[in-house]
Amino acid sequence: MVRRSSRTTAQKGHPFGRRPSGGVADVLWDWSKSGTRHAARNRLLRKLPGVGAAAAYRFGLVERPHYAYGVRRATELAARLGHRGVTVVEFGVAGGNGLLALAEHARYYAAATGVAVRVVGFDSGAGMPAAKDPRDLPYLFGPGFYTMDHDRLRARLGTAELVIGDLAETLPAYLDTHAHLLRDHPVGFVSLDLDYCSSTNTALGLFRGPAHEHLLPRVTCYLDDLPGTIEQIGEAAAIADFNTAHTDRPIGRVLGLRAFTPFDPPWADQIYVHHRLDHPDYGRLEIGATGDQLPLDH
Ligand SMILES: C[S@@+](CC[C@H](N)C(=O)[O-])C[C@H]1O[C@@H](n2cnc3c(N)ncnc32)[C@H](O)[C@@H]1O
Repeated sequence: MVRRSSRTTAQKGHPFGRRPSGGVADVLWDWSKSGTRHAARNRLLRKLPGVGAAAAYRFGLVERPHYAYGVRRATELAARLGHRGVTVVEFGVAGGNGLLALAEHARYYAAATGVAVRVVGFDSGAGMPAAKDPRDLPYLFGPGFYTMDHDRLRARLGTAELVIGDLAETLPAYLDTHAHLLRDHPVGFVSLDLDYCSSTNTALGLFRGPAHEHLLPRVTCYLDDLPGTIEQIGEAAAIADFNTAHTDRPIGRVLGLRAFTPFDPPWADQIYVHHRLDHPDYGRLEIGATGDQLPLDH
Protein backbone atom coordinates (compact mmCIF):
# COMPACT_ATOMS: atom_id res chain seq x y z
CA MET A 1 0.00 0.00 0.00
CA VAL A 2 1.34 3.45 -0.89
CA ARG A 3 1.23 5.87 2.04
CA ARG A 4 -0.08 9.26 1.02
CA SER A 5 1.56 12.23 2.73
CA SER A 6 -0.71 13.86 5.28
CA ARG A 7 -1.72 17.52 5.09
CA THR A 8 -1.27 17.82 8.84
CA THR A 9 2.02 18.04 10.70
CA ALA A 10 2.91 17.53 14.35
CA GLN A 11 5.62 20.14 14.50
CA LYS A 12 6.64 21.89 17.69
CA GLY A 13 4.00 24.51 18.46
CA HIS A 14 1.54 23.21 15.90
CA PRO A 15 0.41 19.88 17.30
CA PHE A 16 -3.05 19.82 15.81
CA GLY A 17 -2.63 20.55 12.16
CA ARG A 18 -1.04 22.86 9.67
CA ARG A 19 -0.95 26.56 10.47
CA PRO A 20 -3.21 28.40 8.05
CA SER A 21 -1.67 31.42 6.41
CA GLY A 22 -3.33 34.70 5.70
CA GLY A 23 -6.08 36.98 7.03
CA VAL A 24 -8.98 35.75 9.12
CA ALA A 25 -7.68 32.16 9.12
CA ASP A 26 -4.52 33.29 10.93
CA VAL A 27 -6.50 35.28 13.50
CA LEU A 28 -8.83 32.33 14.14
CA TRP A 29 -5.90 29.97 14.45
CA ASP A 30 -4.24 32.23 17.04
CA TRP A 31 -7.44 32.59 19.09
CA SER A 32 -8.13 28.86 18.99
CA LYS A 33 -5.10 27.94 21.14
CA SER A 34 -4.76 29.16 24.71
CA GLY A 35 -1.07 30.20 24.50
CA THR A 36 -1.38 32.37 21.39
CA ARG A 37 -4.87 33.55 22.45
CA HIS A 38 -3.45 34.96 25.68
CA ALA A 39 -0.65 36.78 23.84
CA ALA A 40 -3.07 38.22 21.25
CA ARG A 41 -5.56 39.28 23.95
CA ASN A 42 -2.79 40.94 25.97
CA ARG A 43 -1.68 42.96 22.95
CA LEU A 44 -5.27 44.15 22.42
CA LEU A 45 -5.86 45.03 26.08
CA ARG A 46 -2.59 46.97 26.27
CA LYS A 47 -3.91 49.30 23.58
CA LEU A 48 -7.08 50.22 25.53
CA PRO A 49 -7.19 53.83 26.72
CA GLY A 50 -6.18 54.14 30.37
CA VAL A 51 -4.10 50.93 30.42
CA GLY A 52 -0.73 52.24 31.56
CA ALA A 53 2.35 50.40 32.75
CA ALA A 54 0.97 49.81 36.27
CA ALA A 55 -2.19 48.11 34.97
CA ALA A 56 -0.28 46.18 32.30
CA TYR A 57 2.06 44.75 34.95
CA ARG A 58 -0.68 44.14 37.49
CA PHE A 59 -2.79 42.12 35.05
CA GLY A 60 0.12 40.42 33.28
CA LEU A 61 -0.50 42.11 29.92
CA VAL A 62 3.18 42.80 29.20
CA GLU A 63 5.39 40.85 26.78
CA ARG A 64 6.68 37.67 28.43
CA PRO A 65 4.43 38.06 31.49
CA HIS A 66 6.05 34.97 33.05
CA TYR A 67 9.35 36.88 33.22
CA ALA A 68 7.56 39.86 34.78
CA TYR A 69 5.99 37.51 37.33
CA GLY A 70 9.41 36.09 38.24
CA VAL A 71 10.98 39.52 38.66
CA ARG A 72 8.03 40.64 40.80
CA ARG A 73 8.32 37.62 43.09
CA ALA A 74 12.09 38.09 43.40
CA THR A 75 11.92 41.81 44.22
CA GLU A 76 9.04 41.35 46.67
CA LEU A 77 10.81 38.58 48.57
CA ALA A 78 14.10 40.49 48.58
CA ALA A 79 12.35 43.58 50.00
CA ARG A 80 10.51 41.53 52.63
CA LEU A 81 13.76 39.94 53.81
CA GLY A 82 15.53 43.29 53.93
CA HIS A 83 17.80 42.90 50.86
CA ARG A 84 18.52 46.00 48.84
CA GLY A 85 19.33 44.08 45.67
CA VAL A 86 18.46 40.91 43.81
CA THR A 87 19.74 39.07 40.71
CA VAL A 88 17.55 37.54 37.97
CA VAL A 89 19.00 35.04 35.50
CA GLU A 90 18.18 33.73 32.05
CA PHE A 91 19.88 30.41 31.22
CA GLY A 92 19.77 30.18 27.40
CA VAL A 93 19.71 33.53 25.62
CA ALA A 94 19.86 32.73 21.85
CA GLY A 95 19.07 35.94 19.89
CA GLY A 96 18.37 37.86 23.12
CA ASN A 97 14.64 38.69 22.96
CA GLY A 98 14.05 37.09 26.35
CA LEU A 99 17.01 38.80 28.01
CA LEU A 100 15.87 42.23 26.78
CA ALA A 101 12.34 41.57 28.08
CA LEU A 102 13.80 40.48 31.42
CA ALA A 103 15.86 43.69 31.57
CA GLU A 104 12.77 45.80 30.87
CA HIS A 105 10.80 44.09 33.65
CA ALA A 106 13.79 44.50 35.97
CA ARG A 107 13.77 48.28 35.37
CA TYR A 108 10.04 48.45 36.11
CA TYR A 109 10.17 46.48 39.37
CA ALA A 110 13.36 48.15 40.55
CA ALA A 111 11.58 51.50 40.28
CA ALA A 112 8.38 50.10 41.83
CA THR A 113 10.01 48.37 44.83
CA GLY A 114 13.29 50.23 45.37
CA VAL A 115 15.19 46.93 45.11
CA ALA A 116 18.14 47.07 42.70
CA VAL A 117 17.84 44.30 40.09
CA ARG A 118 20.87 42.80 38.33
CA VAL A 119 20.11 40.92 35.10
CA VAL A 120 22.42 38.14 33.89
CA GLY A 121 22.13 35.91 30.80
CA PHE A 122 24.21 32.77 30.19
CA ASP A 123 24.69 31.29 26.73
CA SER A 124 27.29 29.50 24.64
CA GLY A 125 27.02 32.35 22.13
CA ALA A 126 27.39 29.77 19.37
CA GLY A 127 24.01 28.05 19.65
CA MET A 128 23.23 24.60 20.98
CA PRO A 129 26.17 22.30 21.79
CA ALA A 130 26.07 18.63 20.82
CA ALA A 131 23.60 16.56 22.84
CA LYS A 132 25.17 14.54 25.66
CA ASP A 133 22.25 12.46 26.90
CA PRO A 134 19.42 10.65 25.07
CA ARG A 135 17.07 12.68 27.30
CA ASP A 136 18.34 15.87 25.57
CA LEU A 137 15.64 15.52 22.88
CA PRO A 138 18.28 15.05 20.17
CA TYR A 139 15.45 14.44 17.69
CA LEU A 140 14.31 18.07 18.14
CA PHE A 141 17.50 20.07 18.73
CA GLY A 142 20.91 19.95 17.07
CA PRO A 143 24.31 21.64 17.39
CA GLY A 144 24.31 25.23 16.18
CA PHE A 145 20.57 25.87 16.61
CA TYR A 146 19.87 29.39 17.98
CA THR A 147 23.10 31.25 17.29
CA MET A 148 23.52 34.78 18.57
CA ASP A 149 24.30 38.07 16.81
CA HIS A 150 26.65 39.31 19.54
CA ASP A 151 27.12 42.85 18.25
CA ARG A 152 23.40 43.54 17.76
CA LEU A 153 22.54 42.14 21.18
CA ARG A 154 25.38 43.85 23.07
CA ALA A 155 24.35 47.20 21.55
CA ARG A 156 20.94 46.87 23.26
CA LEU A 157 21.90 45.23 26.56
CA GLY A 158 22.28 48.31 28.76
CA THR A 159 23.36 47.21 32.21
CA ALA A 160 22.30 43.58 31.69
CA GLU A 161 25.24 41.14 31.75
CA LEU A 162 25.88 38.48 29.13
CA VAL A 163 28.14 35.58 30.09
CA ILE A 164 29.36 33.70 27.03
CA GLY A 165 30.70 30.15 26.96
CA ASP A 166 29.81 26.60 27.92
CA LEU A 167 27.76 26.73 31.11
CA ALA A 168 29.81 23.91 32.65
CA GLU A 169 32.74 26.37 32.77
CA THR A 170 31.09 29.79 32.96
CA LEU A 171 28.63 29.12 35.81
CA PRO A 172 31.15 27.89 38.44
CA ALA A 173 33.59 30.62 37.40
CA TYR A 174 30.88 33.30 37.64
CA LEU A 175 29.76 32.14 41.09
CA ASP A 176 33.36 32.31 42.21
CA THR A 177 34.30 35.70 40.76
CA HIS A 178 30.96 37.39 41.58
CA ALA A 179 30.45 36.00 45.10
CA HIS A 180 30.60 39.46 46.66
CA LEU A 181 28.06 40.98 44.24
CA LEU A 182 25.74 38.00 44.61
CA ARG A 183 25.83 38.29 48.40
CA ASP A 184 24.40 41.81 48.07
CA HIS A 185 22.08 40.78 45.22
CA PRO A 186 21.08 37.14 45.81
CA VAL A 187 19.43 35.29 42.94
CA GLY A 188 15.62 35.37 43.20
CA PHE A 189 14.42 34.37 39.73
CA VAL A 190 15.80 31.95 37.14
CA SER A 191 14.49 31.21 33.65
CA LEU A 192 15.60 27.78 32.43
CA ASP A 193 15.55 27.77 28.62
CA LEU A 194 18.45 25.52 27.59
CA ASP A 195 16.32 22.84 25.88
CA TYR A 196 18.62 19.96 26.88
CA CYS A 197 18.34 17.81 30.02
CA SER A 198 22.16 17.82 30.33
CA SER A 199 22.47 21.64 30.07
CA THR A 200 19.61 22.11 32.57
CA ASN A 201 21.42 19.75 34.94
CA THR A 202 24.48 21.98 34.63
CA ALA A 203 22.43 25.14 35.27
CA LEU A 204 21.00 23.58 38.43
CA GLY A 205 24.56 23.65 39.77
CA LEU A 206 23.47 27.13 40.91
CA PHE A 207 21.47 25.39 43.65
CA ARG A 208 23.89 22.54 44.50
CA GLY A 209 26.85 23.88 46.48
CA PRO A 210 27.06 24.25 50.26
CA ALA A 211 26.89 28.09 50.15
CA HIS A 212 23.58 29.92 50.52
CA GLU A 213 24.53 33.60 50.36
CA HIS A 214 24.12 33.84 46.58
CA LEU A 215 20.47 32.77 46.74
CA LEU A 216 17.20 33.89 48.32
CA PRO A 217 15.69 31.08 50.42
CA ARG A 218 12.99 30.60 47.77
CA VAL A 219 13.91 31.12 44.12
CA THR A 220 11.16 31.37 41.51
CA CYS A 221 11.93 29.39 38.36
CA TYR A 222 10.31 29.44 34.91
CA LEU A 223 10.72 26.23 32.89
CA ASP A 224 10.34 27.09 29.22
CA ASP A 225 10.72 23.69 27.64
CA LEU A 226 8.14 21.51 29.41
CA PRO A 227 5.23 21.68 26.94
CA GLY A 228 5.16 18.77 24.54
CA THR A 229 7.73 16.67 26.44
CA ILE A 230 7.21 14.02 29.13
CA GLU A 231 8.37 13.90 32.76
CA GLN A 232 11.25 11.50 32.01
CA ILE A 233 13.15 13.61 29.44
CA GLY A 234 14.36 17.20 28.93
CA GLU A 235 13.94 19.85 31.62
CA ALA A 236 11.51 17.78 33.68
CA ALA A 237 14.06 14.93 33.93
CA ALA A 238 16.77 17.36 35.09
CA ILE A 239 14.44 18.64 37.84
CA ALA A 240 13.62 15.06 38.87
CA ASP A 241 17.36 14.17 39.02
CA PHE A 242 18.00 17.24 41.16
CA ASN A 243 15.14 16.47 43.54
CA THR A 244 16.30 12.88 44.00
CA ALA A 245 19.80 14.05 44.93
CA HIS A 246 18.73 17.03 47.12
CA THR A 247 15.72 16.18 49.23
CA ASP A 248 16.18 19.25 51.45
CA ARG A 249 16.20 21.59 48.43
CA PRO A 250 13.16 20.66 46.35
CA ILE A 251 12.18 22.33 43.07
CA GLY A 252 8.46 21.93 42.53
CA ARG A 253 5.62 23.33 40.46
CA VAL A 254 3.53 25.99 42.24
CA LEU A 255 0.19 24.30 42.76
CA GLY A 256 -2.98 26.20 41.85
CA LEU A 257 -1.13 29.27 40.56
CA ARG A 258 -3.50 29.77 37.63
CA ALA A 259 -6.40 30.33 40.03
CA PHE A 260 -4.81 33.41 41.54
CA THR A 261 -3.12 34.80 38.43
CA PRO A 262 -5.16 37.29 36.36
CA PHE A 263 -6.69 35.77 33.20
CA ASP A 264 -5.68 32.20 34.06
CA PRO A 265 -2.55 32.13 31.82
CA PRO A 266 -1.10 28.79 30.60
CA TRP A 267 2.42 29.89 31.61
CA ALA A 268 1.38 29.59 35.27
CA ASP A 269 1.79 25.81 34.85
CA GLN A 270 5.50 26.39 34.09
CA ILE A 271 6.30 28.32 37.28
CA TYR A 272 8.32 26.32 39.80
CA VAL A 273 9.98 27.36 43.04
CA HIS A 274 13.27 26.14 44.51
CA HIS A 275 12.58 25.82 48.24
CA ARG A 276 15.91 25.86 50.00
CA LEU A 277 14.85 24.32 53.29
CA ASP A 278 18.39 24.40 54.69
CA HIS A 279 18.87 28.14 53.91
CA PRO A 280 19.44 30.07 57.17
CA ASP A 281 16.66 32.51 56.17
CA TYR A 282 14.17 29.85 55.08
CA GLY A 283 12.02 30.12 58.20
CA ARG A 284 12.23 33.90 58.60
CA LEU A 285 8.72 35.34 58.66
CA GLU A 286 8.38 37.62 55.66
CA ILE A 287 7.45 41.17 56.65
CA GLY A 288 3.76 41.51 55.83
CA ALA A 289 3.02 37.92 56.76
CA THR A 290 2.70 38.78 60.44
CA GLY A 291 -0.55 39.10 62.30
CA ASP A 292 -2.94 37.42 59.86
CA GLN A 293 -6.18 36.41 61.58
CA LEU A 294 -9.34 34.68 60.44
CA PRO A 295 -12.08 35.77 62.85
CA LEU A 296 -15.62 34.37 62.55
CA ASP A 297 -17.65 36.22 59.88
CA HIS A 298 -20.82 36.50 62.00
C1 LIG B 1 15.92 28.00 22.97
S1 LIG B 1 17.40 28.89 23.09
C2 LIG B 1 17.04 30.18 24.26
C3 LIG B 1 15.93 31.12 23.82
C4 LIG B 1 15.83 32.40 24.61
N1 LIG B 1 15.67 32.17 26.03
C5 LIG B 1 14.65 33.23 24.12
O1 LIG B 1 13.66 33.31 24.84
O2 LIG B 1 14.71 33.80 23.04
C6 LIG B 1 18.46 27.79 23.96
C7 LIG B 1 19.85 28.34 24.18
O3 LIG B 1 20.53 27.54 25.14
C8 LIG B 1 21.92 27.62 24.89
N2 LIG B 1 22.60 26.47 25.50
C9 LIG B 1 22.17 25.19 25.56
N3 LIG B 1 23.06 24.42 26.23
C10 LIG B 1 24.07 25.24 26.63
C11 LIG B 1 25.27 25.05 27.39
N4 LIG B 1 25.63 23.85 27.86
N5 LIG B 1 26.07 26.12 27.62
C12 LIG B 1 25.71 27.36 27.17
N6 LIG B 1 24.58 27.60 26.45
C13 LIG B 1 23.77 26.56 26.17
C14 LIG B 1 22.04 27.62 23.36
O4 LIG B 1 23.18 28.34 22.96
C15 LIG B 1 20.73 28.33 22.93
O5 LIG B 1 20.95 29.65 22.53
